Amino acid sequence: MPANEPSTQSVPGTGTAAEVPQPTRHGSEIIGAGYYQPARVLSNHDLEGMVETNDEWIRQRTGIRERRIAGDDETVPMMATAAAQDALDNAGVTAAAVDLIVVATCTSDQRSPNTAGRVSKNLGTPSPVAMDINVACSGFVHALAIADQAIQAGTATTALVIASEKLSAVTDWTDRSTCILIADGAGALVLRRSDRPRISPVTWGTEPDLTDAVVIEPPTNKFVQDGKQVFKWAISEAAGYASKTVTNAGFQLEDLGGLFSHQANLRIIEPLARQLGLADKIVATDVVTSGNTSAASIPLAFAKMWQAGELPADTPFLLFAFGGGFAYAGLVAHTPRV
Ligand SMILES: CC(C)(COP(=O)(O)OP(=O)(O)OC[C@H]1O[C@@H](n2cnc3c(N)ncnc32)[C@H](O)[C@@H]1OP(=O)(O)O)[C@@H](O)C(=O)NCCC(=O)NCCS
Repeated sequence: MPANEPSTQSVPGTGTAAEVPQPTRHGSEIIGAGYYQPARVLSNHDLEGMVETNDEWIRQRTGIRERRIAGDDETVPMMATAAAQDALDNAGVTAAAVDLIVVATCTSDQRSPNTAGRVSKNLGTPSPVAMDINVACSGFVHALAIADQAIQAGTATTALVIASEKLSAVTDWTDRSTCILIADGAGALVLRRSDRPRISPVTWGTEPDLTDAVVIEPPTNKFVQDGKQVFKWAISEAAGYASKTVTNAGFQLEDLGGLFSHQANLRIIEPLARQLGLADKIVATDVVTSGNTSAASIPLAFAKMWQAGELPADTPFLLFAFGGGFAYAGLVAHTPRV
């Protein structure tokens, strides 16, 4: 049967093949990417005047040289909207075509309406499904999988998948162990129904033993982490899950154009690429100039590189993220066709 023909199935209990229409199943593909970064640059030298630290320590331990920090008017919904509009422009799609908006964020400053609802109103999308998800740093890959599955199930045709984070609002600016890492920004992809699926099955899960390794919780509501524990997990476990992701997706590592891993720390990204045998391919290292923007880090890096012409078209890349929860998620996604 052709892949997109509606199918029939037998009615339970009757043993006969009856005409029960089944939803048409499609896949999806990325057709555009966009991003937004605040104008304010905070360099390592700037941080030297704020806490007891220095440029050399930060670069050696994290690879970060500078990061972007949002102003008061650069809110999570504002940055999400700007990244989404940029992605729509990049895809050549109007807001009117969007019937699903999924926003990944763990720094939304309002519970209702959610960020996706605000984005919908700001963009003027007619009446989309609009939902936020919070899986901290791995939120974007979760959101991409959810949007792909909605499209596969026939409940959406054109999705905006966005991650927007304002980590500066949940940072203790007197804590040198965290304030040197974090940053703000947003990234977005446009996903469209396709009879040539270009988003693989997702591999995702959690590590319950690490639930409290990364938290933003009362009474301070500031970002606190056990950096050493996260680093140890990333160096010893992440490659196993990332490689399982590629196998589950039906690819060989050598088929891939490269790696977009969560931009937490260059000292994690580079060993991960080496462990996967991807070090000679395209490896996103946006953390160097953008810092750690939690869920936004992968779409931000992807969109910047796509718009700069640094990624080949129609090429599979591994997207793999981990963080608060403690959650991880990975999938293989092709860059847009043109
Ligand atoms: C956060 C991280 C960079 C810290 O690096 P580290 O090598 O573990 O550093 P430590 O925390 O052991 O600190 C080493 C020393 O540097 C000091 N230090 C901490 N932050 C510092 C800073 N900004 N500047 C200078 N010194 C600093 C510590 O106080 C400590 O001093 P001591 O030896 O006198 O006690 C590292 O643990 C890391 O990257 N972890 C993973 C984080 C991550 O990926 N999180 C993802 C969340 S989504």
